[in-house]
Amino acid sequence: QEDVFKKVVSHAKEYGFIFPSSEIYDGLSAIYDYGQNGAELKNNIKQYWWKAMVQLNENIVGIDSAIFMHPTIWKASGHVDAFNDPLIDNKDSKKRFRADVLVEDYCAKIEDKENKEIEKAAKRFGDAFNKAEFVATNPRVLEYRAKREAILSRLAKSLEKEDLADVKALIEELEIADPDTGSKNWTEVRQFNLMFGTKLGASADSATDLYLRPETAQGIFVNYLNVQKTSRHKLPFGIAQIGKAFRNEIVARQFIFRMREFEQMEMQYFVPPGTELEFYEQWKKTRLNWHLALGLGEDNYRFHDHEKLAHYANAAADIEFNFPFGFKELEGIHSRTDFDLSAHEKFSGRKIQYFDPERNENYVPYVVETSVGLDRLFLAIFSNSLKDEVLEDGSERTVLSLPPALAPVKAAILPLVKKDGLPEFADKIFNDLKFDFNVIFEEKDSIGKRYRRQDAIGTPFCITVDHDSLNDNTVTLRYRDTMEQERVPVSELRRIIDEKVNF
Ligand code: GAP
Repeated sequence: QEDVFKKVVSHAKEYGFIFPSSEIYDGLSAIYDYGQNGAELKNNIKQYWWKAMVQLNENIVGIDSAIFMHPTIWKASGHVDAFNDPLIDNKDSKKRFRADVLVEDYCAKIEDKENKEIEKAAKRFGDAFNKAEFVATNPRVLEYRAKREAILSRLAKSLEKEDLADVKALIEELEIADPDTGSKNWTEVRQFNLMFGTKLGASADSATDLYLRPETAQGIFVNYLNVQKTSRHKLPFGIAQIGKAFRNEIVARQFIFRMREFEQMEMQYFVPPGTELEFYEQWKKTRLNWHLALGLGEDNYRFHDHEKLAHYANAAADIEFNFPFGFKELEGIHSRTDFDLSAHEKFSGRKIQYFDPERNENYVPYVVETSVGLDRLFLAIFSNSLKDEVLEDGSERTVLSLPPALAPVKAAILPLVKKDGLPEFADKIFNDLKFDFNVIFEEKDSIGKRYRRQDAIGTPFCITVDHDSLNDNTVTLRYRDTMEQERVPVSELRRIIDEKVNF
């Protein structure tokens, strides 16, 4: 699994998807840049989400609020007081860790043992193996599970009570060591606020302290009245937004899974009080189906219902995805009650109420939120699509079998040779298609090498122009996934590509 992940990271760099930020200055930890193919893929994912949310739902509108916001917003939202991670330093290595992640890593090791036990049994029993039955009756697996659950529940309780001495005791009791040095020499655990601070204004005395937003949601809450009044939507209705968020993460690893600057695609759905749990269930289903429609495989998703709830929620679940390093959170769906709007009412002194003509009363709307990390979704799609295949003739190819609608380049137009009028013919096709699709023209290297390069960036179609093309106006169309080739008239290209790459 580690090898798969390394391959994902190196492929992303080698083929222009993701580069470490400021690389010529040795990079900046947990910050990444998207290259020419990465930017296209990311834009296509955004569009796919925006269409599903804003365009296809008559009662959801989209906004784009500023990253800088009034600092009191973060007081009202609870981020100044409660947006913390428990931090612990290792005295010997001077490295910082998230205390909860250390404990969770320890639990993942127990889970690993459990999985190995299940794998061994599956091999032993062959076809007759039934996982659910095995798990239910095997004492060792049950013991692993119970132990893991007990540890995680103790951790959750200590975190909830903000009892950091207890977290430290748990780490000591489990004899958790620094994964690199093996040292168990820890400092106290303390709370570390994840927000980045900055200043607004030129003169030192009048400058105001600001934060870079740690979530896009607050930009939606503080615009609720503006949008409701100008869009004239009745409840339930939603506001969607795609934008950057910033968190000073303590543990920065796992590539673009956990970054310090990242993008969120969030939607806040405003509903009458008392109906929120119904809409919460509905959005859980809708969002899972949206993910499944990408075709990455049903088994790669699962829900994780939260027992420990954030300060603003009365129900919360994650959609987890099977990343190369195991199942991890991809999207959060939260029933946020009226926590945020009521807090903004209190801190701003403005009334944030909705007059419900059916109930004939005023109230603060309740909110159900769906929040997916764009970069995490990128990683899920990218890592799941990257495949090494052994072909019939024994040779190998690397192919990025992205959903065609998301592929950075839809078709590559390739003159077989650089002479005899083939480049000019290919250029005409390029100029004809470029208004509808992101297409590229390539004439360097052998045709085999060019096909491989397109496979590696996930281009669904290659269009090859040869000498026959000049006579009969047909080209060879090669399909990325099957590598099949067929002869098609130039006039048919737009229709064939369009059928496959439309959302
Ligand atoms: N408004 C709710 C909210 O922000 P969250 O669970 O903290 O909830 C939502 O974040 C999503 O944002 C996560 O499911 C994840 O996909 C993404 N996300 C959060 N922190 C991230 C980080 N440091 N790097 C990349 N994505 C992140």
